[in-house]
Formats: sequence, structure tokens, C-alpha cells
Amino acid sequence: MKHAVTGGFGYSGSYIVRRLLEKGDEVITLTNTSPKPDSPAIAHYPLKFDGDLVNALKGVDVLYNTYWVRFNHKRFTHQQAVANSRSLFAAAKQAGVKRIVHVSITNPDERSKFEYFQGKALVERALIETQIPYTILRPAVLFGGNDILINNIAWLLRKLPVFGVFGDGNYRLQPIYVDDLAALAVEHGRASGSVILDAIGVETFTYRELVKTLGAIIGAPRPIIQVSPAIGYSVGWVWGHLLGDVAITREEIGGLMSDLLFVNSPSTGETRLTTWAKENASELGKHYASELARR
Ligand SMILES: NC(=O)c1ccc[n+]([C@@H]2O[C@H](COP(=O)([O-])OP(=O)(O)OC[C@H]3O[C@@H](n4cnc5c(N)ncnc54)[C@H](OP(=O)(O)O)[C@@H]3O)[C@@H](O)[C@H]2O)c1
Repeated sequence: MKHAVTGGFGYSGSYIVRRLLEKGDEVITLTNTSPKPDSPAIAHYPLKFDGDLVNALKGVDVLYNTYWVRFNHKRFTHQQAVANSRSLFAAAKQAGVKRIVHVSITNPDERSKFEYFQGKALVERALIETQIPYTILRPAVLFGGNDILINNIAWLLRKLPVFGVFGDGNYRLQPIYVDDLAALAVEHGRASGSVILDAIGVETFTYRELVKTLGAIIGAPRPIIQVSPAIGYSVGWVWGHLLGDVAITREEIGGLMSDLLFVNSPSTGETRLTTWAKENASELGKHYASELARR
């Protein structure tokens, strides 16, 4: 089989590529990032949403789509990402791709006030309308490898004497290990029919519990204080600014506090965040993970 993965030199995409290569299949990637020294040695084509995508996708059996933008920025927006995703699916259709495994988010909703969740719902609809058989995987948050959220919570715990959670901190998250998501994606690349699946890990934490658990594991237990979302955002803005990044957005705080990273579904991952964090405690959060540095 021949597979195409978006972001094959990026975060979740690189795990999907490695699993496909282990099966001995041919893999290409669509990306605007150059390969790093440890990137898989595969053919890469620009992730430009024009006619060239059709040529790149010719002969591909399965497309694994991880493409999305985390927030609105002067250089990229959710609205553009929706339009680009439509172009990608149209190119896949024209190229004769037989199946698409698409990575979405928990609780996408076309009526959501959060553009991230609204855009993700529009992209899911665009995929379904192609009539190409699909699997839509909906993770809440990923951990492991070069993740951003879990790593940066640990980084803040190492840096600060106290940790502020937005509001009461009792909204929930269900992190899934990035390689468990990749395993699921690869399994579904070989499936038939169409399905939508929440991709969540074994453990559910409230945000407060997550911070407390990570602090204990990395040896940086901190008093947890409640801060208003506005103050939390302002502090995050300053941190981000000093680091040349966008550390957190109002939307991300809003989505988190609205419990949108929680679903009432059985777990689809196997790896426990607590087990993984203990195994990686000495490295977890040692360095800040910057979204903008990756762009
Ligand atoms: N990471 C999480 O915790 C998490 C949680 C829930 C859902 N998800 C979903 O999982 C999928 C994969 O996430 P990931 O963290 O693995 O992403 P990623 O590797 O950072 O990026 C995935 C793809 O999107 C492209 N991309 C990302 N930001 C972009 C930008 N600002 N402008 C242009 N292209 C951009 C990347 O381009 P390049 O190939 O050029 O790098 C890559 O092809 C996404 O759909 C995301 O919404 C992630």
C-alpha cells in the first residue's frame, strides 16, 4: 500500500509515518517543514493547497490528515485552515485516494462559539461530503514526544513557586499517548467503511489533578491557586511574548473550561500518562515547547 501523511516530520504525523514504515509500506509526506536529522527518510512534497497536491497524491491508497492550525495568527487562521482542508480533500478525491484517516478534536461543533471547535466540525463535514471512506479520530489532548501542553505545564511547574489554574480547575481532560493515536490511525488506514471515534487515553484528570499529578511526578509539587481566566490569559500572554510564542489563547482556556476536552466514551489508548510521565520525569518540562518556533 502507498500512504500519504500530512506533517510527517512534525508531531503526531511522524509517529504515524514510523508505524507505517514498520509495516514495510511506502510512505510519502505533505509538509512545509524540512526533514530533521532524526526524521524518517521518506519522499516529501509541499503542503500547498493547489493543483500540485493532486500530483503528489496520485497512486496513494490512504491519506492521514493531521493538518490544522492551533490558533488564529497574523500568518494563519482557522478560516484558512478550513478552506485548505477542503482543497486537500478535493485533491485526494481527484487523485483517487481510497481512504482518509483524519485527526480532529473531541466535541467539534459547527455552532460552537470557539472557532477551533467550529472549524474542526466544518472540516469533518467537508471530509464526509467527499464520499471517500473515512475514519475520523477525535483526540482531546496528546502527550509524549514533542507535545506542547503537558510539557509546558511541567515546564511552568519547574519555573514557578505556585501554579495558577483557570477558575476552579475542575474541568476535565483525557490525554492520549501520541503513539497510541498513531497506532489507531494506522489500524484504521486498513479498515473499511466509515467511522467516527473519540481517541482518548485511559486516565481522566481534572485540570487541577493533572497539574498536581505532574508536579508530584517531576519533583516540583506546587501550591495550586485559582486565577480568573482573564488573569490566567494575561500571565500566559506575557510568558508567550517573552518567549516569542503564543503560550495559550482565550479560546483554548474557554474550550478547556467548557469541558470540551472530555467525552463520555470508552478509552481507545493504552498508555497511562502517569506511567509515561514517571518514566520521563527527568526530561519532562525541562525545555519550553514553542508552537511558533515550529512554524
Ligand atoms: N497536539 C495535541 O495535543 C492535539 C490535541 C487534540 C487534537 N489535535 C489534532 O491533532 C492533529 C495533529 O496535531 P499535531 O499537534 O500533531 O500537529 P503538528 O504536527 O504540529 O501539525 C500537523 C500538520 O499541520 C500543519 N500545521 C500546523 N500548524 C500550522 C500552521 N500554523 N500553518 C501551517 N501549517 C500548520 C503542519 O505543517 P508542517 O508539516 O509544515 O509542520 C502539519 O502538516 C491536528 O489536527 C490537531 O488539531 C492535537
